[in-house]
Amino acid sequence: MSDDRFLDKVYDLSTTEETRELYDDWSDSYDTEIMENGYATPERVARALAAQVHDLNAPILDYGCGTGISGAALIAAGFTAIDGADLSAEMLMRAREKGVYRDTWQVQPDAELPFAPGKYHAITAIGVIGVGAAPPETLDLLMNALTPGGLFAFSLNDHALADPAFTARLHDWIFEEKAKIMFEEYGEHLPGINLNSTVYVLEKT
Ligand SMILES: C[S@@+](CC[C@H](N)C(=O)[O-])C[C@H]1O[C@@H](n2cnc3c(N)ncnc32)[C@H](O)[C@@H]1O
Repeated sequence: MSDDRFLDKVYDLSTTEETRELYDDWSDSYDTEIMENGYATPERVARALAAQVHDLNAPILDYGCGTGISGAALIAAGFTAIDGADLSAEMLMRAREKGVYRDTWQVQPDAELPFAPGKYHAITAIGVIGVGAAPPETLDLLMNALTPGGLFAFSLNDHALADPAFTARLHDWIFEEKAKIMFEEYGEHLPGINLNSTVYVLEKT
């Protein structure tokens, strides 16, 4: 088992600045630490999304792309035109080195997204929304960047599932009939630390 130094700290962050700093510091060892703990969610999300799309060549955005592990999983599932965005410049640098993204850009906290709704047929947020990472409103931010028929594929780990602030954002979209759940599955996230996640694919109505 690897040194769990960053995994021990990551679920205790509270501000966007703390999150960005931690991921900048983690960027060198993130892939090793996370893969040694059996990181399963990227492949689960990528497979679930690929089963819902009609055109694997349509542009998609991997929001919170980190070092590009999630982009690599999307490529393995057949997607061909993936852009990546992340809060952390250092994580993005690693992602660019992997060469899995068509384009990448750094997320500026509290800024609007730098593209018009509908640019992407699908958006992913894999291991991104949750305690110690992107806040619950990120779900609204990304759903608002889709046009009707657009897909949002994301995961909530056990920490996020236990916090009503995260599940409430999801329930609002469903109960107000602004989105439909096309796929939902609870399964392994980081088995090395006994953490699971639910993978969702939503379609905007
Ligand atoms: C656990 S990593 C997941 C990275 C990648 N998706 C993967 O599956 O390996 C979480 C990523 O979300 C990014 N992040 C955290 N808060 C964010 C926010 N508000 N907006 C965009 N990215 C954010 C972090 O910088 C980090 O790279």
